[in-house]
Amino acid sequence: MKGEIYHPPVLLKESLGYLKADKGGIFVDATLGGGGHTEAILRANPKNRVIGIDRDEEAIERALKRLESFGDRVSIYHANFSQIGKVLEEEGIDRVDGILFDLGVSHFHLRGERGFTVWKEQPLDMRMDRRQKLTAKDVVNKLSERELSEIIFKYGEERFARKIAREIVRRRKKKEIETTKELAEIVESVIPKKLWAGRKKHPAVKTFQAIRIYVNREFEEIERGIPEAAEFVKTGGRIVVITFHSLEDRLVKNILKNLENFKVVTKKPVQPTEEEVRENPASRSAKLRAVERIG
Ligand SMILES: C[S@@+](CC[C@H](N)C(=O)[O-])C[C@H]1O[C@@H](n2cnc3c(N)ncnc32)[C@H](O)[C@@H]1O
Repeated sequence: MKGEIYHPPVLLKESLGYLKADKGGIFVDATLGGGGHTEAILRANPKNRVIGIDRDEEAIERALKRLESFGDRVSIYHANFSQIGKVLEEEGIDRVDGILFDLGVSHFHLRGERGFTVWKEQPLDMRMDRRQKLTAKDVVNKLSERELSEIIFKYGEERFARKIAREIVRRRKKKEIETTKELAEIVESVIPKKLWAGRKKHPAVKTFQAIRIYVNREFEEIERGIPEAAEFVKTGGRIVVITFHSLEDRLVKNILKNLENFKVVTKKPVQPTEEEVRENPASRSAKLRAVERIG
């Protein structure tokens, strides 16, 4: 596979193991992305079927091509994973053996042109699903200072949230904020240089994370999607969730712990091996948690 179109699936062996993918069954990949996990599930047992869901049309197109050779063992839906019930109803499926959530943005988003990263000059968009109206540009230019400050604090855990919001509002009075670099530069101007100069992490990363989570309603999707998915898991079946930052992991940990009729099967979150991190540095913050239906 060419480097251009490769999203290395994170915690792949561990995901297959916790899903018990070698046993043969019906699985849902709730975050299909490049289709890496789905392809591995399909290869793990010739009897496996996968229903793949993604809210990003480009991901769907890519996955359709990649998975073409598996024929009707795979069905692909352009939807939010909170709509899993509707998707399974359309498939005529009541119960599945395992469901995977590999949350967050994909490699393709970061390498694309939708303004997901602070490192490239692009229009402020950040929508995973481009059918949606709200963009990052709307958020930055239209919300009140207070709303912006709350979002940046809540979803970015950014202690300079108030100052950043104030500066955004001051600057946008002069000129609409249109690009990633403009926003990154505003954040940079507010955070004391001694806290970021010479470090690898850009000072605007937390603000970008916050706006992305808000634009895509990521936490609402998780709060609705996981409990909804749980309804469709057979006894003995599993839900596996991979998160990429502490805020997301805390939310998922709580939701999984509180699912009725499920037990947590990962005492501690599973993290990538040193080898995986070396080969794919983007995996370094990944954590996998799994639960199993017991009744
Ligand atoms: C980390 S990537 C998944 C990568 C995939 N496991 C692979 O191996 O290629 C996450 C994907 O989930 C999708 N996604 C995020 N939130 C979603 C949601 N609420 N509903 C459906 N898809 C979502 C994103 O568009 C993205 O393509």
